[in-house]
Amino acid sequence: MKSSLLPLEHAALTQRDFELIRQFLYEEAGIFLSDIKKSLVASRLCRRLKETGYENYGDYFEFVKNHSEHSEYHHFIDALTTNETFFFREIEHFEFVKNLIKTHPQKKSWQAWSAACSSGEEAYSLAMLLADHLGIDGQWQVQGSDISQRVLAKAEMAHYPLERNDGIGFERLQKYCLKGIGKQSGTFLIDETLKAKVTFFAMNLTQSCESVGMCDLIFIRNVMIYFDTVSKQRVINHVLKQLKVGGYLFISHTESLMHVKHGLKQIKPSIYQRI
Ligand SMILES: C[S@@+](CC[C@H](N)C(=O)[O-])C[C@H]1O[C@@H](n2cnc3c(N)ncnc32)[C@H](O)[C@@H]1O
Repeated sequence: MKSSLLPLEHAALTQRDFELIRQFLYEEAGIFLSDIKKSLVASRLCRRLKETGYENYGDYFEFVKNHSEHSEYHHFIDALTTNETFFFREIEHFEFVKNLIKTHPQKKSWQAWSAACSSGEEAYSLAMLLADHLGIDGQWQVQGSDISQRVLAKAEMAHYPLERNDGIGFERLQKYCLKGIGKQSGTFLIDETLKAKVTFFAMNLTQSCESVGMCDLIFIRNVMIYFDTVSKQRVINHVLKQLKVGGYLFISHTESLMHVKHGLKQIKPSIYQRI
């Protein structure tokens, strides 16, 4: 890898390099980039070129492609994933889980998995909900996974700007979060007791997900929008192996499993159950 701290002018992203990059990203992560994403790819990788000292996208990509163990490979994946998320996003899903817990008081343990958890908001939202209804010491666990190491590091930090707390509500903020003071004012931290119930790890959903174990609740939301039908099928095949009989799968309201074979019963437009 080259090294240079000077800002560099670099060549434009050629169509050929764009094709190679998108093919590689598709094979690695299942993410499909349409033609209109070319300028987005150029701007997102531009910073990587500056950081690494490469003068053109082709040489930079050649390095990434041949060094999948190198940290630059992860920077490349980080740069090309979209990580937008927030607490209690698509609140109907959390309401559904709440009712599920209430109507199954005899159920001993709950295992939830936020697949493609981004910076952790979805996993911590699930944890808050489960703690609300089963107690912080209840028999439940939340796992969060993502392909991007950058967002997983944020999830582990569990440190968020206060303006992003909208969905949490005052009561839960008091119960599960610590308000930053001094230099940390304007931020909050997830409390250690809640954090201890949530584990994060890197996982590429296009590969085996066996290490997750069997889950009652799988949230796989706002990630399949980046996949084509072939990738969706590949991912769903892996993910469903981890869903218990009777367990539920949640996708985003903006996504669909049309043309994907899954064998699940559709309960609501974005909620499915393994029967
Ligand atoms: C828009 S975020 C969704 C976050 C959260 N699930 C939500 O709905 O708010 C999509 C996440 O999917 C992750 N992702 C993309 N491709 C992936 C793959 N093949 N395996 C695992 N995670 C992936 C990205 O890194 C990103 O953090």
